[in-house]
Amino acid sequence: MKLKSAIKMLAFTTAIAVSGLTFASSQSDEHAKAAGWNKGGGEQDAALHLTPDLENGLDVYEVCSACHLPEGWGTKEGTFPQLAGQHKKVIIKQLADIRALNRDNPTMYPFALPESIGDEQAIADVSAYIQKLLMNPDNGKGPATADLAKGKKLYVDNCVKCHGDIGQGDEAKFYPRISGQHYNYMLRQFEWIRDGKRRNANPDMVDQIKGFTQQDMVDVISYVSSIPLPEGDAAPSKDWLNPDFD
Ligand code: HEC
Ligand code: HEC
Repeated sequence: MKLKSAIKMLAFTTAIAVSGLTFASSQSDEHAKAAGWNKGGGEQDAALHLTPDLENGLDVYEVCSACHLPEGWGTKEGTFPQLAGQHKKVIIKQLADIRALNRDNPTMYPFALPESIGDEQAIADVSAYIQKLLMNPDNGKGPATADLAKGKKLYVDNCVKCHGDIGQGDEAKFYPRISGQHYNYMLRQFEWIRDGKRRNANPDMVDQIKGFTQQDMVDVISYVSSIPLPEGDAAPSKDWLNPDFD
């Protein structure tokens, strides 16, 4: 292991211990009210206007790979989301929001700070690096009991206008790609967005989904997790390894 990686891993282990405590205590707190979904400004705007350095992006990504894995695929059971293939602007926004505490992520927070990865340039670099990673062809899917036909109808009626007909999102508007994402992660986010716990969420989405029941959520998210990825976006197999990490 390179010296730099060794230092990063040490910082990682220490912060895991600390963030474990933060996480436990934040569970009892009510999530604060929305602080605005996309005000821009600050690090987000700065990072959006910088030219990314992909080599440094890979260097920064080493820290992230401890949880999101070298391939950027996260974990199938959904604790860690897939990042690979996400739009650069979405990643920049989420990172800036997490750093500004406008989105709760106590597990990741210490690793996303300027002290661990650097300033806006690091955000621009790592986001550009992540965007070009091939996606996991074997994402976590919903339960067999889900009604996919009903899910599809709910999707067409409530989601297509923002997340696109195949879940591709819309980079220009900061709408995330959701196809290929793990079911459990999406279900958790969807519920948090519906219930106002994800403070950086788009208020129009909150409005759109406020009447969704538990079963509606299961059906629509199961459908989203089953949408096939366009050819070329996914890695050739689920055993593919990121060659940058040789
Ligand atoms: C200690 C584990 C950990 C590390 C290290 C980590 N993350 Fe995360 N990250 C998470 C978890 C957990 C979530 C999902 C939180 C949730 O469920 O809301 C997440 C979510 C994200 C999201 C939001 C994804 C989405 O679809 O909205 C982005 C972007 C992200 N991480 C990028 C990074 C980057 C870049 C790094 C490295 C600088 C990094 N993460 C390091 C645990 C980690
Ligand atoms: C008005 C536009 C809009 C509509 C309608 C909408 N969304 Fe979203 N959705 C968003 C935006 C914007 C975000 C990211 C919010 C942020 O930046 O925090 C998001 C986030 C999500 C996420 C979390 C993604 C992640 O990577 O963390 C999921 C899952 C999701 N939406 C699913 C759905 C589904 C399913 C529907 C339909 C039932 C829907 N959305 C309807 C705009 C919309």
